[in-house]
Amino acid sequence: MRLNLLKVLNENFRIKIFITFALLIFFISVSFTSLFIHRQTKNLTDALIKKGNLLAGVLAFNSRIGVFSENKELLDVAAEGILQQEGVLEVSIFNLEGKLLKSKERPQIRTLEKSIRRDEKSKRKAIEEITETVSPCYFVGSSAVEFWSPVISDSDPYEETSLFFKEDLLRRKSKIIGFAMITGDKRTLDKELNDLLVKTIFIGITFLIIGSIVTYIVAKGITKPLNKLIESVKIFGTVGTVEKFPIETKDEIGKLAMAFNNMAESLKRREGALRESEERYRTLFTQASDGICIMSVDGKLVDVNESSARMHGYSTQEIRHINLKDSDAPETFQLAPERMRRVLAGEAITFEVKHYHKDGHVFPLEVSVSLISYNGESYVQCIHRDITERKRGEEMIQASREQMRALAGRLQTVREEERTDIAREIHDELGGALTGMKVDVSFLIKSALKIENEAARTSLIAGMDSVTKSIDTTIHAVRRIAMELRPGILDDLGLVAALEWQLKDFEKRSGIRSEFFPPVEDISLDADLSTALFRIFQEALTNVVRHSGATAVCVRLRADADSSTLEVEDNGKGIEKEKLLSSESLGLLGMRERAQMFGGRITVTGTPGTGTTVKVEIPSVEKRKIERDQGGATLR
Ligand SMILES: Nc1ncnc2c1ncn2[C@@H]1O[C@H](COP(=O)(O)OP(=O)(O)O)[C@@H](O)[C@H]1O
Ligand SMILES: [Mg+2]
Repeated sequence: MRLNLLKVLNENFRIKIFITFALLIFFISVSFTSLFIHRQTKNLTDALIKKGNLLAGVLAFNSRIGVFSENKELLDVAAEGILQQEGVLEVSIFNLEGKLLKSKERPQIRTLEKSIRRDEKSKRKAIEEITETVSPCYFVGSSAVEFWSPVISDSDPYEETSLFFKEDLLRRKSKIIGFAMITGDKRTLDKELNDLLVKTIFIGITFLIIGSIVTYIVAKGITKPLNKLIESVKIFGTVGTVEKFPIETKDEIGKLAMAFNNMAESLKRREGALRESEERYRTLFTQASDGICIMSVDGKLVDVNESSARMHGYSTQEIRHINLKDSDAPETFQLAPERMRRVLAGEAITFEVKHYHKDGHVFPLEVSVSLISYNGESYVQCIHRDITERKRGEEMIQASREQMRALAGRLQTVREEERTDIAREIHDELGGALTGMKVDVSFLIKSALKIENEAARTSLIAGMDSVTKSIDTTIHAVRRIAMELRPGILDDLGLVAALEWQLKDFEKRSGIRSEFFPPVEDISLDADLSTALFRIFQEALTNVVRHSGATAVCVRLRADADSSTLEVEDNGKGIEKEKLLSSESLGLLGMRERAQMFGGRITVTGTPGTGTTVKVEIPSVEKRKIERDQGGATLR
């Protein structure tokens, strides 16, 4: 029961307001009624006491001669006059000693209680009090009130000691000569008070009822629009749209209604925007050339678009019934859990996969996967792009690049072979011819010595000497040209010797201090690789002379089971970063190409002011083979 009341109170605003105001009105009316009753009671009591005191006073005054002379007739007249007054039940007059001189009463006094009536004790008490204060007093009983007043005689005696000329010649003297007592009926007062109480309570209840009715109407007035608003909100909640709520007032309820209207409007607009955006997304989803599929986080297919289905060779209906995991080629399938884990962790990732087509062939896809949120739930969105064509294109480019590289390699080889041939031809043929010529000339000199004519002999021999010198110079030049074309030392003594010789020659010609650190152990590289490394080395040295401004060069050649490394380090100004990839850096490009022909690579590092290091790393034949095998496996 109590719970029910609390529930109603908690749920019903109108009852809450009503009860609050009703209680307020109740308290106000009770307070006012009590206050009113209290005041009225006091007023009535005061009036009664005033009247009683006055009548007692009048009786005392009227009976003073009767008391003084103890004349019963006089007292009777005085008493009779007062007894006639309304509410007076009994009149008594006493002399100074308290002896009853006169007593008159109305007949109904018999029915009243005795205690208040002239019992000795109350009489004594009254007499003592009046004698002491020389003023009236009263005693309240349950049904009557006794009013006592002193009977006073005034006399103006001459003072024996007073003189004629003195101001207070006549001194008034008041003296108590008896007591007058009136018993007033208290029941009239009680009756009046009762009437007053009834009237006041009646007014209070009327006020309470009217107040409650007014409160109810006011509460209803307040809650009615609120209830209507609640109805509207409910409709809006279920239907999603509602008519505008009429704004009738400018108070809080009016403002609430306005806020509701604004909210409904804004929600409607937002919903419209959301719908539009959803439609846009749907159009994008269905019409995209990329395949899109949406999966739940546990991997179930939720939606898939036309493109994705077509890519896999299915219709959208068919693809819904196949498990997408089944379309993963084995290597894709292996990597899937790790990728899924990253996506669920919030990462958006793009990678390449291989899927089975409906007809069984495997085709490459580029997939971008991310986590999306829809209606508060997370889904995995995969965007598929068929990259068969791209892959084919890439493969073609790769193949043509490899062809180009092979061609370039071939050209280098041919060039080297030709250089070797020419160098040999020049060395052998020209060198041989020149040596022959030198022998011939020395024979000629010997023959010329036999000429007798001294002048002719001398000039001839001088000419011959000059020819011999020219032949020597030419032989020297021929050797140098042949050497530059193709150092025979490379073929004859190998790379280390060729590098050492080349470096010495470089030092001699450039004046740049050079140091060479050969490998600790002997190395045997095939002729092509030796040539490539030698040419790279030559280009590096040329660059040092031309660009670095270095004063020293340090060359290191190392070789182990895995690779051969050649390092050319200078202490020059340091190569600029942008030169490294510049299309004009043909020398660097040539070096790179040569290294790549052997699966190697070149790293050029430059620190401004410290120098440049060119490092060539060529993997060993075995390593290259292993790598090629592994690369093949990953491609398969
Ligand atoms: N050892 C080096 N020190 C400083 N700069 C260098 C060095 N080697 C190359 N460079 C810079 O790199 C550029 C490219 O070199 P390269 O490709 O050999 O072309 P080229 O020698 O024909 O200018 C050079 O122009 C030069 O500025
Ligand atoms: Mg160069």
